[in-house]
This record gives sequence, C-alpha cells and structure tokens, in this order.
Amino acid sequence: MISGVSEAMSRKGNSSGRWLNRQKRDRYVRQAQQEGNVSRAHYKLEQLDERFRLVRRQDQILELGAAPGGWTRYLGERAAAGRVVAVDPLPVVGGANVTVITGWFGEPEVDAEIEALAPAGSVDLVLSDMAPNLSGIRSADQARSIHLADLALQAARHWLKPGGRLVVKLFQGEGTDGWVREARTVFASVKVAKPDASRAESREVYAVCIGRIAEIAGGGV
Ligand SMILES: C[S@@+](CC[C@H](N)C(=O)[O-])C[C@H]1O[C@@H](n2cnc3c(N)ncnc32)[C@H](O)[C@@H]1O
Repeated sequence: MISGVSEAMSRKGNSSGRWLNRQKRDRYVRQAQQEGNVSRAHYKLEQLDERFRLVRRQDQILELGAAPGGWTRYLGERAAAGRVVAVDPLPVVGGANVTVITGWFGEPEVDAEIEALAPAGSVDLVLSDMAPNLSGIRSADQARSIHLADLALQAARHWLKPGGRLVVKLFQGEGTDGWVREARTVFASVKVAKPDASRAESREVYAVCIGRIAEIAGGGV
C-alpha cells in the first residue's frame, strides 16, 4: 500500500499536485518507504507511545479508522501477545493478531461485530485516528471531526476496562475544549499532544487519556 493513500484519496483537483510535491519532500514519507512501513502515520503513534507508554504486550486493542494500516501494523507488533480489532470501511493491512472489520464505526452491524470479538469492558486500549473526508467548508469539517471524536469517547466508555487508555485524533477548533472537558469526566488524566510526525500546518492533535474511571453503580459516567 502506498503511504498516505487515504489522505491522497481525500484531495482533488489542483491541490493534488501540491500535495504530491509535499509528499516527496516529507521526511516521514521517505522514512516509511525506506523502513517498509504502511504509512507515515506509523511515526505519530510510535512517538505518542514513546512519550506516554501506551501499548503493552498483552493488550486487547480496538482501533477505529485504521486504513491503510500504519497504526495497525505497529499495534500488532507491540501487542504481540494481545489482539487488535481494527475498523475502517477502506482496506487495512493487517497482521497475525489483527482482525479487520470492514465498515463504518457507529453503524449497528459494525458495533455488533466488535461486541462479538471484544465484549463490553474487555479492552485495554482504544485508539481513533478517524478523520472525515474534507469538504473544504471549515465549520462543517470541524463538526464532523468532533462527531468522530464523540464516537470514540462513546466506544471508550463501552469497551474499555477500568484503568484503560484512549488515544483520539482531534482537530483544534470549535468543540475541542468541550470534548476535552467531557473526557476528563471519564479518565483520570487527559493530555493533548502533537507528535513531531504530525504536520506543523495541520490543526491535528491527539488527546491521550489514561486511567478510565470505573463507573459507580447506579450513576457515574
Ligand atoms: C487518517 S486515516 C487513518 C490512518 C491510519 N491511522 C494509519 O496509520 O494508516 C483516517 C481513516 O478514518 C476512516 N474513518 C472515517 N470515519 C470512520 C468511521 N466512522 N468508522 C471507521 N473508519 C472511519 C477513514 O476511512 C480513513 O481511512
């Protein structure tokens, strides 16, 4: 799979030439090609993992927005004694301990497939690199990206064990602060980080949420 292919598919017309030139100059694109990694996104997760110690050998992992599979391969190798359930409507490069679900997270059939593989409260780590196809209308794109982050927080509430971890892509803008406030009611620690491999000109950041707070019977989150 060509690195960054899903990003390529969301760009059209005149911007595609500029985008191809930038891809050629990009140090992480070259590194992904040289090291045989699926996408440059691999390095964003590697850098977050080095800083926050996110992925453990035995982890049960749910990954949302996995295509083309840069994170998926990294997760499969790091959690060698665990399992990764990876969800995306587009093709994902998997691995020995990876199960790919092809579909849109949030659709009832996809939720049911995840539940059959990973029952509620059984997951150590949820990650979402989900991103909408950009329309170019900033307010609409921002609303859609916050909606995807909300879906990821719902997934964490349902599937994570107490103490579990969540990583979510956010685009800085309207709704981001509210999302972080909400996540702080669910996790002991929420930090917002921008790995070096995330392009400086992009509003993309990652929320790293550690220590899923156990629900209190009859109340809580
Ligand atoms: C930036 S790419 C992910 C890159 C990936 N982390 C990697 O390392 O290769 C974003 C992905 O989110 C997916 N996506 C967007 N909405 C989704 C949804 N509701 N359910 C599952 N995947 C979704 C898109 O299809 C796209 O492949």
